Amino acid sequence: MPPGTVAGDIVAAPSNGKRSARGYDSLHMPGRLNTPWSIGSVEIPTRLVLAPMAGVSVQAFRRQGRRYGAGLVCSEMVSCAGLSHRNERTLGYLRIGAEEHPLAVQIFGAEPALMAEAARMVEAAGADLVDINFGCPVRKVTKTGAGASLLDEPYRAAAILEAVAEAVDVPVCVKMRRGVENGSRTALNVGPQLVEAGAASLTLHPRSAQQMYTGTADHSLTAELVELVDVPVVASGDITSRGRAESVLAETGCAAVMVGRVAQGNPWAVGEIAGIVDGTPSREEVVAELLHFMRDTVAEMGEQRATGFLKKFYGWYLGRGRFPKPFANELVRLETIEQVEERLLAAAPGASDVLAHLEADLPAGENVVLDLPVSIYAGG
Ligand SMILES: Cc1cc2nc3c(=O)[nH]c(=O)nc-3n(C[C@H](O)[C@H](O)[C@H](O)COP(=O)(O)O)c2cc1C
Repeated sequence: MPPGTVAGDIVAAPSNGKRSARGYDSLHMPGRLNTPWSIGSVEIPTRLVLAPMAGVSVQAFRRQGRRYGAGLVCSEMVSCAGLSHRNERTLGYLRIGAEEHPLAVQIFGAEPALMAEAARMVEAAGADLVDINFGCPVRKVTKTGAGASLLDEPYRAAAILEAVAEAVDVPVCVKMRRGVENGSRTALNVGPQLVEAGAASLTLHPRSAQQMYTGTADHSLTAELVELVDVPVVASGDITSRGRAESVLAETGCAAVMVGRVAQGNPWAVGEIAGIVDGTPSREEVVAELLHFMRDTVAEMGEQRATGFLKKFYGWYLGRGRFPKPFANELVRLETIEQVEERLLAAAPGASDVLAHLEADLPAGENVVLDLPVSIYAGG
């Protein structure tokens, strides 16, 4: 790699094959966030990745993330067993809309053959990348031998990688935690083995599974991982501002940073990190963006399911000092989406103009939601 680049950098000049002492020289490269990079053959326009989050990363969320500057978006984790059983709800997660690409669809499971089958379905659905979950700390998942528990079974994890990489032509990525136990450094041992087995990139959330979301993400481990592998490493965990994003990029030599919780009900944080908005929306902008998100979600999953699904987003959008706390609680108690829309517009009448502008500015393909029959979601 030319000096000053890291794995995944898109460079004009051919590589001289040499790495600098730390594999990168980005401390003096301000604004690296807005430069392109790649995972295998997939080009990604910015170094900001929207995290996969179960119960959050629906199409509406991913498309919004792309609008606010995320270069890559990810689906939430999809069960390979559910895909194998052709479970309707699970199949719905494979629905990929316009304006999402590049998109990674994440799968989880413990059986190499089932994971390979799932990966083929993900590829057929149009995903640009298949991502494998070796990080989920939730008992329901780890007790089946999937998620973070695979970090303690490197042979099985590598077998899954090999089977999946063999099954598909798109690049295969891995997302993992630092290990299962607190203080674990397992990721540094397993990561290179997974690359050997075919991983085209590694995302590290350097908390242990035991930690869940407590404590802090220790990105010194990310820097160590970068040194060990020749594929792009993505840093996940506690990236909450542009300053933090740039410093993690510079200090770890990672190829990109991933944002998760800060993006919930807060596309302006994504935009601030991407350097395209200042991060403090007006009330009208908040309501307009929420209304658009609601409509997009209803189009995606149908009104009945969207009604319950959206409730947690009210607090996320309207909190953070944007509206008095009781307002979100009031919306949660309303029975229909229509009632919620009315109440929102009564609280911020100017939002309808902002919404009209927002929807007029959407790319032409933005209204294309359904690549699979609607009945796929009716099972939910
Ligand atoms: C509600 C929620 C759901 C999540 N679901 C997934 C998931 O499906 N797959 C995954 O790899 N990580 C998942 N994560 C972890 C995030 O992708 C990310 O690694 C983690 O939240 C740390 O980043 P943050 O500090 O920016 O939130 C989830 C996190 C949250 C908060």
